[in-house]
Amino acid sequence: MGRTIVDIKTSQPTLRNEADVETSALAGFGKLSQDERYEKLVEIGALTAAEAQHLKSGGLKDLGLAEKFIENVIGYFQVPMGIATNFRIDGREIVIPLAVEETSIVAAASKTAKWVREVGEITTETLGELIIGQIQIARVRDIANLRTKLQMSKADFINMANRDVAHGLVARGGGVEDIVLREIDRPDGDKMAVIHVHANPCDAMGANIINQVCEYLKGPIQELTGETVTMCILSNLVDTKLTRAKVVIHDIEEDLGKRIEEASLFANLDPYRAATNNKGVMNGIDPILIATGNDWRAVEAGVHAYAARSGQYRSITTWTYQAGKLIGILEAPIVVGTVGGVTKLHPTAQMSLSMLKVSSAAELSRICAAVGLVQNLGALKALTTVGIIEGHMKLHIRNLTLGAGASEREVPLVQKRLEEILMLTKRISLQNAVEVLREIRGAVPVSPGTSALT
Ligand code: MEV
Repeated sequence: MGRTIVDIKTSQPTLRNEADVETSALAGFGKLSQDERYEKLVEIGALTAAEAQHLKSGGLKDLGLAEKFIENVIGYFQVPMGIATNFRIDGREIVIPLAVEETSIVAAASKTAKWVREVGEITTETLGELIIGQIQIARVRDIANLRTKLQMSKADFINMANRDVAHGLVARGGGVEDIVLREIDRPDGDKMAVIHVHANPCDAMGANIINQVCEYLKGPIQELTGETVTMCILSNLVDTKLTRAKVVIHDIEEDLGKRIEEASLFANLDPYRAATNNKGVMNGIDPILIATGNDWRAVEAGVHAYAARSGQYRSITTWTYQAGKLIGILEAPIVVGTVGGVTKLHPTAQMSLSMLKVSSAAELSRICAAVGLVQNLGALKALTTVGIIEGHMKLHIRNLTLGAGASEREVPLVQKRLEEILMLTKRISLQNAVEVLREIRGAVPVSPGTSALT
């Protein structure tokens, strides 16, 4: 039986045999040397030769560009960038660039995506496209007057903002679309009013434009209503622009399916667990945001605020097991941009965007949601079966081996011995690596069964 997929090189649908569904275009990527990895990415069209060369030679070094981003520049802080493989999202093969320092995130994402592509699928959608700006009136003098006047002049305000500030967005099919009044009771009995300005930022994240719109409307609103506007700023709790990802695993073993469902319930009911669960989700999302030059603090703030929308902080994912199927859903505001700012200026961010082959900001946010959900699945699977230490520490062993000062020739020997120690003791440290290296170098006689364990 065949299956239609999109060929990563040509973007053309191709027929793939069920037999090779397991293998992605990047199968075995982790086992390649660094040079071979670049060659592979160029071969499949994820990078150009010039981009590969840019990465190979250490990436961005021009401090002049840093000066454009921030103040008091003294350099760049380099974060490793890797590729998560095996992702097929909405039927499209996608190479996922992840900029992150934490061991095992890239491996866990790739491994879990492999499982999903073999026995399930990932689909995504966006719910809404409007971002929110807030115009606050801390203490309202006459709420009825404010309500009536705003309602009467809403269309004028929208037109003025679109004409004078958001005309670029309007030209691209977006712009200010609505103005909504919210009333909040103050603790002293008075009323606070918050006017929400809703705008479609198209492929921009929209922070600058929505702030400009709100500040522009401040004067006319004060003039019309006689109220005093106290501050204007966007909201990161963008529940008007949500992204949803869904993972379905078919034919999952009942025991495993129920364990994952139970872990999901734990994260939904207990905020202490929810925080860690959501951190694991962000392990998949933040590295894409960083790689693409997006504002990850904004997304973090929005996701966590959305997780607490019921009044209790909860998981932003849910997993349910039903008749042999495991279904996972992630729903959160993941507001990103693919044009403007760092995204446009940073060459590595540009490279990441072209690797992802995204055609819109909405598509980028859908990829983020999918990777976050898959990352969550990987963590829950590990936590409810072998535990997190095993996989994490296996990968950490190489860092410890190098940290202990092993040469290229010694690395495999030290790694093998450390893996044995890990199997026996379920823990491993740099001290173990140092002692094993000493044994191997003959400084301490090696006797079977003894060692580095103590
Ligand atoms: C570690 O970076 C992330 C996890 O703690 C996530 C989780 O507990 O679900 C493993």
